[in-house]
Amino acid sequence: MMGQRSLVAASLLALVSLATPALAHPNHAAATPTLAPWQQASAWPDRIITTFETDPTTSFAVTWRTDARVTQAVAEIVRATPDARFDLGATRKAADSEPLDLETIKTAGQELKMTWNAGLAPVTYHSINFDGLEPDTLYAYRVGGGDGKWSEWFQVRTAPKSGPIKFLYVGDAQNGVLSHWSRLIRAGYQKMPDARFIIHAGDLVNRGSRDIEWAEWFKAVGFIHGMIPAIPVSGNHEYDSFGIIPAQRRLLSALWRPQFRLSSVESLPATLRETVYKVAYGPDLDIFVLDTTSEDLAAQASWLDQALSQSKAKWRIVTMHHPIFSSGEGRDNLSRRNLLLPIFAKHKVDLILQGHDHTYARGTIAETDPQRPERSVVGGAEDVAMMFVNSVSGPKQYKFKSSRWDEYAPSGVRLDRFGEGTQFFQTIEINGGALQYRAYAATGELYDSFDMSKDAAGKKQVTKGPVATMEQRTYGPNFPYRDFKDPQ
Ligand SMILES: [Fe+2]
Ligand SMILES: [Fe+2]
Repeated sequence: MMGQRSLVAASLLALVSLATPALAHPNHAAATPTLAPWQQASAWPDRIITTFETDPTTSFAVTWRTDARVTQAVAEIVRATPDARFDLGATRKAADSEPLDLETIKTAGQELKMTWNAGLAPVTYHSINFDGLEPDTLYAYRVGGGDGKWSEWFQVRTAPKSGPIKFLYVGDAQNGVLSHWSRLIRAGYQKMPDARFIIHAGDLVNRGSRDIEWAEWFKAVGFIHGMIPAIPVSGNHEYDSFGIIPAQRRLLSALWRPQFRLSSVESLPATLRETVYKVAYGPDLDIFVLDTTSEDLAAQASWLDQALSQSKAKWRIVTMHHPIFSSGEGRDNLSRRNLLLPIFAKHKVDLILQGHDHTYARGTIAETDPQRPERSVVGGAEDVAMMFVNSVSGPKQYKFKSSRWDEYAPSGVRLDRFGEGTQFFQTIEINGGALQYRAYAATGELYDSFDMSKDAAGKKQVTKGPVATMEQRTYGPNFPYRDFKDPQ
């Protein structure tokens, strides 16, 4: 076995040296970065993260990493019990394993030397989809590395067939991921430790192919990734601008697909594999994930239109990176809005969760009856069609539009709450026809809230949630706007 591994490792090394002459990315610094010890792979599993590939009521997926000496790995799963030796009946399964050369990316007939990953040895990503599970059941699993090197046992609960669903949603982490974002995401976990999943609405890191930034992202969340599945959304910073390939100006990070085991939409172009997908979280909630950086947005839009038509779920959420209504000063996404907003409106998507603008913004499009417009608000409850949120979880902050969305008035959207200079996480709880939304600062203080209800006929109303404990957040005159550096 060891001989076989050595042979594979030697082949990988040979591949790396054959990769020259390679082209340097013009934006890469020439200096070799200092490697953090916790960034480097070993024979032990690390960067363990749970996701959804198939039905969350009966399955969940896990991905982990080792160094390239480990070419095959196994994982074990068992129903969790109070028994101290719950593990004795565990089932062992073989993982899917793929090597990844972090220094050289082979794409479009070229080999790109990733100097920002210089000095990093090739790694192997392993993944498995645990399926055939029971709904709303707690499972324990562990993942293997080389020769008996196991992770600890993690516990994950499958989705319920009915009953409440709680989850977290965060906007851009992107910068200062270990130094500043870690406290925010950990505060989110403390606020809602029984969250069933976490939506990361794009720009998880600043440079999507730079390994140290992912090392920070995994270290910041730590064991939480092994317990609460992630629903990652790709943002523009998960794409790298390889100016030396004119035909493909932007490419999805080489790390995205190896490190997240997600589902795909068969009918869409292969470039959208594992960046455009649907998560049907039990019968009450469908989540549609879009890739708004991709140039294949029209194909996504027609898939979404069809998928929303077929959706039987009580609640439908779309999550994507670029917001329909921009909140950062000087920013707008006109073509995306023109393409997607009519589809959202046609299907009255309940909630649109976005990022990109490094501010906080929440706005409503009310449901109006042209015959009786005064009926849209009665007794503090407003008839609503759609709710839009842009949020930010990392430390880099932009200035909010001085227009406060006035230019979007023809769309019928009304800005309900905005904020600057603050990191946020959001908790969302769905219980039958009731949805509770809360936005909190990293200190756990409430910044924004609403409650939404939906009756059997699909009629939605919004009422105010608990009153915020924080004042409106705006910049002071000396706030360090956009000032955040990448890790060295
Ligand atoms: Fe961003
Ligand atoms: Fe972005």
